Amino acid sequence: MSKQTFFSGVQPSGNLHIGNYFGAIKNWVDIQEEYNAICCVVNLHAITVPQNPEELNQKTIEVAKLYIAAGLDPAKVTIFRQSDIPQHTELMWLLNTITKTGELFKMTQFKDKSGIQNSEDNTKISIGAGLLNYPILMAADILLYDANLVPVGEDQTQHIEITRTLARRFNKKFSKEEDVFTIPNIYTSPAGKKIMALDNPLKKMSKSAEAVNSRIEILDEPEVIKKKIMKATTDSENKIYYSDKPEKAGLRNLLNIFSIITDATPEQIAENYQDKGYGDLKKDLAEAMVSYLQPIQDKFNSISDEEILNIFIQSKSTLLPQTQAKITQVKKVMGLE
Ligand code: TRP
Repeated sequence: MSKQTFFSGVQPSGNLHIGNYFGAIKNWVDIQEEYNAICCVVNLHAITVPQNPEELNQKTIEVAKLYIAAGLDPAKVTIFRQSDIPQHTELMWLLNTITKTGELFKMTQFKDKSGIQNSEDNTKISIGAGLLNYPILMAADILLYDANLVPVGEDQTQHIEITRTLARRFNKKFSKEEDVFTIPNIYTSPAGKKIMALDNPLKKMSKSAEAVNSRIEILDEPEVIKKKIMKATTDSENKIYYSDKPEKAGLRNLLNIFSIITDATPEQIAENYQDKGYGDLKKDLAEAMVSYLQPIQDKFNSISDEEILNIFIQSKSTLLPQTQAKITQVKKVMGLE
């Protein structure tokens, strides 16, 4: 039996942090053998907000390096740049015509990024259309490859739902004997859900948060990692135990992160530190984090830009026959070819 396909991607904007790593990329690494794995650097999504072109180009290469540094094997996994495959935008237009504007205006990410809190005011905003249409491009990414599974952070749930809606709607409207699109499933990991901002443990760790102290970036220097962890928000009780209490959110976050990079549960770690202070816990966590990230950083530094550019060229020629065939199939049922 042939393998099922997973498709996923990360935007080359901002710096990837441990939330991105444990929430998404690490999961790709874990399932890369079982699936036909397609891992995209979604640079067309990144330009839905203004980008500096040189930086965007460099970040795109950097994200691909991080995929490999995190453990994706480029000999088995297809790592590519979204803008190299024109069928993503082509399919996006076709799907655009079956998408309702209301479906786009109600997306949480759109509301957050455009700063609209309620959708009654839709008509008055001056926000790039790309931001509104973002979910359609994401649906096109996934449906173009008939992906069965999409391993992403939990914040992407709504995007996967609209992808499924569009696939079903298209199938219903246009499919003849067999369905044109495969309905994808989301895969989220329990680990990734728990990583909160260091400076505000009620919010998720985020690439776009202004405070760099809020996140541990995968490429942070050891000294920087230490500083960020030592500064992390805790509480004034100075007593280590694992609890759901809101005032323990900062400590809980540190214990969760510690647990993810070791084999111990957060409760066990809390027990080991029950007679110690927050400073001790933070110091040890910082050291463990530095050692955890070291091999990833070393691998990252060993990969040249040329290697990545060659992978992009290779992937493009591997993927094009498949994506062209898919578009032909779609155009045929729509009466366009
Ligand atoms: N929207 C995703 C994010 O911000 C990135 C993305 C774009 C994506 N296209 C995708 C993820 C397709 C999975 C599959 O994380």
